[in-house]
Amino acid sequence: MRDSASAAATELPDYLRDTYTWAYLDHRTLPWLDRPVVVSAILWGNASRLMDGAVREFNPGQRVLQAAAVYGDFSPRLARRLGDAGQLTVLDVAPIQIANTRRKLAPWPHMHAQVADLTEPVGTTFDAVCCFFLLHEVPPHARQRIVANLLKAVEPGGKIVFVDYHRPRWWHPMGPIMALVFRYLEPFANSLLAESIETLVPETADFDWKKETFFGGLYQRVVGIRR
Ligand SMILES: C[S@@+](CC[C@H](N)C(=O)[O-])C[C@H]1O[C@@H](n2cnc3c(N)ncnc32)[C@H](O)[C@@H]1O
Repeated sequence: MRDSASAAATELPDYLRDTYTWAYLDHRTLPWLDRPVVVSAILWGNASRLMDGAVREFNPGQRVLQAAAVYGDFSPRLARRLGDAGQLTVLDVAPIQIANTRRKLAPWPHMHAQVADLTEPVGTTFDAVCCFFLLHEVPPHARQRIVANLLKAVEPGGKIVFVDYHRPRWWHPMGPIMALVFRYLEPFANSLLAESIETLVPETADFDWKKETFFGGLYQRVVGIRR
């Protein structure tokens, strides 16, 4: 993994600046969006269920990579789960998000957060990798690079967990609202909904996959075990 000095110079991707400055790069909106109650509202009351479901996939004592910062208390939940013998590494391309994650992880001094662009190779391997609602926020080419890099960061016998949006069933009452959200606020989400994470890149062939959907199909959890 790159050291913090070179990583601090990492450039922000154009898609992040152009589309998500208001959500991830602005120190005025960050404290509001980081509140668990706001995260819960954005996920229609499913935040706890989705976070707990992801966190339960990992075991105390494991070395886990969290791909990108997540608002609310996701990282603290994961740190608590991994415990004193575990190690959590959070990588995010935005220094403001890393500073915020370090603040939230302060009670766990042995957990780390570091600036890094996940479209570049991670450079080390982990027992497990967690990617929570990142893939719908990046354009297809960057998504493929990120997924390939994350898969390569899983040790043989290790696990990767993706939680993200999924195409809701046709009758879903939130379908029309989510269509507007995806059209105006999350312009890369529809391209994720048209794809299957478990076949996105050739590296997926090295894994055995299990996929579940939740809340009328609006969310998916895709778990891969490296052979
Ligand atoms: C995990 S996603 C969204 C998570 C979810 N919507 C939430 O509640 O926070 C957002 C993060 O992804 C980060 N990100 C986007 N592209 C990235 C990349 N190429 N490498 C590392 N982090 C990236 C952004 O900086 C942002 O902090």
